[in-house]
Amino acid sequence: MTFENLLKAFMDGNGRLTVLSGAGISAESGIPTFRGPEGYWTIGSREYRPEEMATHAMFSRDPWEVWAWYLYRRTVCASAAPNHGHRAIVEMEALLGDRFRLVTQNVDGLHLNAGNSPSRTFQIHGNLNFMRCAQGCCNTLFPFPDQVEYKKKNQAVTPVEKELLRCPRCRGLARPHVLWFDEYYDEALFQAETAFQWAITTDLLVVVGTAGATTLPMHIGHMIFKNPRAILVDINITDNPFRTLARNHPRGVVLDGPAGDHLNKMVSTWKNHALSIR
Ligand code: APR
Repeated sequence: MTFENLLKAFMDGNGRLTVLSGAGISAESGIPTFRGPEGYWTIGSREYRPEEMATHAMFSRDPWEVWAWYLYRRTVCASAAPNHGHRAIVEMEALLGDRFRLVTQNVDGLHLNAGNSPSRTFQIHGNLNFMRCAQGCCNTLFPFPDQVEYKKKNQAVTPVEKELLRCPRCRGLARPHVLWFDEYYDEALFQAETAFQWAITTDLLVVVGTAGATTLPMHIGHMIFKNPRAILVDINITDNPFRTLARNHPRGVVLDGPAGDHLNKMVSTWKNHALSIR
């Protein structure tokens, strides 16, 4: 069956769709991918990789350097707008309603800005627009204090901002609402288990713009074909472990090229099909 006919058959049935997104979808909005050259951060004469900066260990040692890095990343994200790939995923949700869920690793908030509903979106790595208590006095997500400025690269956190980046409840240090490399996925903060259970029982899993370097998404990839109906689609501009899974399975589909183009083609197929059967 062609991919187009497969999409039409999916639309006619009552199967569920999961879109699993990574940094590649936001690349077309001008946000550098996580492992691109912009990810590096200089402290003194040393360059740090995201895998070192985005850790609880680093935050414990040097919270203000880690905050400065996140405030800069937040600035990059805040000046970016959703692109046609994000908008295509909004259309998918509109077409499929409760048959749809989005699992995103992106902390830029662009899926929600584009219009995907918070109730059907699992932000399994958090969202940079929020902070929470670093001591864990509560799980409340606090919006950023307005007075904290957007930052240039390597711009330090000011003494006034250090007072603002505190937990409003216990006054201890606040932290960005993200999942760090040395932390575990968590249901209370990230709905990780709910996202996982939905995704592995889904009928169509569309993986878009991820390098497949994180554990929960890859676990979904390794489980998906246990569902005898499931189809895995990988959209990416390079090889990645999801593509390998898709390539080596009869129910796998590889779509090579930019995220936005392929997602919009899928939406067009579904819309035209809906019109043709009216
Ligand atoms: N269209 C499709 N894919 C793209 C595009 C594009 N226009 N541009 C880049 N890509 C792909 C790259 O080929 C790569 O496979 O997006 C992927 C980006 O990989 P990463 O930067 O590693 O991002 P991601 O996979 O989302 O990282 C996952 O790891 O570092 C942690 O928590 C962080 O959420 C992040 C997670």
